[in-house]
Amino acid sequence: EHDGVCYPSFLPFREKGAEQALKDITNFQSRDTDIMICTYAKSGTHWINEITSMLIRKTAELDNINKATTMLETISDFSVTDDLPSPRLLNTHCQFRYLPKGHIEHRGKIIHMIRNPKDTCASYYHHSRKDNIFLSFFGTWNEFFDLWMSAKCAYGSWYTYEKDIEQAEKDYPGMIFTCSYEEMKKDPKTEIRKLADFLEVQCTDKLIEDIAKATSFENMKENKIDFSKAGDGTTFIYRKGIVGDWKNHFTVAQNEQFDAQYVEEFQDCSYKSMFDLELCTI
Ligand code: A3P
Repeated sequence: EHDGVCYPSFLPFREKGAEQALKDITNFQSRDTDIMICTYAKSGTHWINEITSMLIRKTAELDNINKATTMLETISDFSVTDDLPSPRLLNTHCQFRYLPKGHIEHRGKIIHMIRNPKDTCASYYHHSRKDNIFLSFFGTWNEFFDLWMSAKCAYGSWYTYEKDIEQAEKDYPGMIFTCSYEEMKKDPKTEIRKLADFLEVQCTDKLIEDIAKATSFENMKENKIDFSKAGDGTTFIYRKGIVGDWKNHFTVAQNEQFDAQYVEEFQDCSYKSMFDLELCTI
């Protein structure tokens, strides 16, 4: 835990403590071509990561070769990233304030995916129960819901995370590309084209279409090698991949509690319009 926020027990957090591990991320030696994927956990990180990787490589082939983790908070010795070819695709769930300061100084590209927080919360519950190596949550849905509401799940408050990035978009115009899980689901070709423009990657409509197909939930679930393993050895990143699964989890009372907090915390956030508010109401 650091500054009231808990972290998964990845090696750097265990070895150095959260404060030092976060400092090391901030001091990470960036290249000006690095691309950072920034997401709150369970917002579609693997999905947007794969789309970006395909755009950079200009292919609709899934990247099943590169096993090296590029999630900054899991890396104990950053020299493992030295051999990665440019542009390096890196990612983190840590709050914006901990991003490599070199990356911000270079105005390096940042890709941010946001997801309806109710679905994010439901997805996080399943992930937390499966990942008994780094999260070790053995509780019930009701217990997880309370953790989320009190910002005690790993990486802390979803609201703080998202509002930090919203502020950074204002502070550093043009540096951050934000898209929502829901918009990507609804119209992947349009969103992928916008992302290609942000990345300044020239590509044909055919390639955009092929990337949209190759990164569909069904294709990724079937064909993407998932290097995350649960304690029982099964993989668990590709679960349902739908919009609105929170409705299978929240009670009416929980939904009311969530909505009250949402209004209080997120009333003025411009990201509010990026997912269908109807889907945030039973
Ligand atoms: P669910 O648990 O709701 O199914 P992350 O990559 O940030 O850990 O997010 C994982 C969530 O994104 C999971 O949500 C997963 O199923 C979903 N997901 C992964 N790949 C996807 C894809 N290609 N299309 C849509 N959703 C995807």
